[in-house]
Amino acid sequence: METVVSGIRSTGKLHLGNYYGALSNFVKMQDSYNCFFFIADWHSLTTHPTPENLQSTVKQVVIEYLAAGIDPEKSCIYVQSDVPEVSELYLYMNMNAYLGELERAAAFKDKVRANPDNVNAGLLTYPVLMACDILLHHATKVPVGKDQEQHIEMTRTFGNRFNRLYSVDYFKEPFAFSSSEKLVKIPSLDGSGKMGKSNGDAACVYLSDSEEVIRKKVMRAKTDSGPETPNQEKPEAIENLFDLMRIVSTADTVDHFDSLYNKCEIRYGDFKKQLAEDIIIATKDIRERIKEVSADEEYVQKALKLGAEKARESAQKTIREVREIIGLKRLY
Ligand code: TYM
Repeated sequence: METVVSGIRSTGKLHLGNYYGALSNFVKMQDSYNCFFFIADWHSLTTHPTPENLQSTVKQVVIEYLAAGIDPEKSCIYVQSDVPEVSELYLYMNMNAYLGELERAAAFKDKVRANPDNVNAGLLTYPVLMACDILLHHATKVPVGKDQEQHIEMTRTFGNRFNRLYSVDYFKEPFAFSSSEKLVKIPSLDGSGKMGKSNGDAACVYLSDSEEVIRKKVMRAKTDSGPETPNQEKPEAIENLFDLMRIVSTADTVDHFDSLYNKCEIRYGDFKKQLAEDIIIATKDIRERIKEVSADEEYVQKALKLGAEKARESAQKTIREVREIIGLKRLY
């Protein structure tokens, strides 16, 4: 059976990007694959959260994973730092990751631009740790959003380089996976780019947002004064809202507003009202489950304990084999 690995950093509440980019695809795969899903708390240290903040965000993310439909009986759900073997693999893989390729990674360059005062080594080697999360369990499919495609390509590079260096056929090639035709990019509500926390809370719809908050955020999403010529190309802010609608609404609804746009008859107020209602419907079950799971401490703890045990078993096997391949053998 093929193995699937995916993860989300523990930076707090999950948004529609996390859900449609990674989590929803993962949930659909649970019956047919050997699935590992984890909270990347070590990755989140690159931005220096306080200990209190780190603890509460890890817990929040676990709750939302479970609420979104990860079944701890079918899938292995765990916290990255509960599986220290990944840090050992990270050490080995760092020996074969080159400065030039790490500096060229698009996500690294974005982070450097956004936070020039915090260009730490962990940020530079972020893709190496991510590769180890995947290679540790020999995954071949990785449900992620479009923004992570390059990191999965780097994972293949690191795995193949290891295989070549030691003349083995050990690590498998993983590929980014989406159940739709293309990898997903959920746009931000502020007019440009992808939905993400760095654009501020108003630009993100969180899975835990109340119906009222969702309506408010969507109604305030950036638009323009409307089309002036029939069939004109949509500016980015409008195309973004249509993209979001393509994810949460029916094809008929999208066609209806698309045709109004093309006839210059669209009223953005109606368009956004429909979009907000469809987001509310699409996320209703998760919103309710978040409340239920939050109140069930025992369920959360049991899931994580079971997950950590399963993940460590798989990780320890890999580390034993990797040590053997590298030639790290006890002399006593
Ligand atoms: P993070 O927390 O930044 O994102 C988690 C997942 O959410 C997806 N995502 C999006 N997808 C579509 N549109 C968006 N606007 C959007 N925003 C976020 C991301 O593509 C990602 O799939 N580096 C990973 C965490 C990680 C990981 C791994 C993932 C660490 N190790 C191993 C898979 C396998 C990340 O992007 O986290």
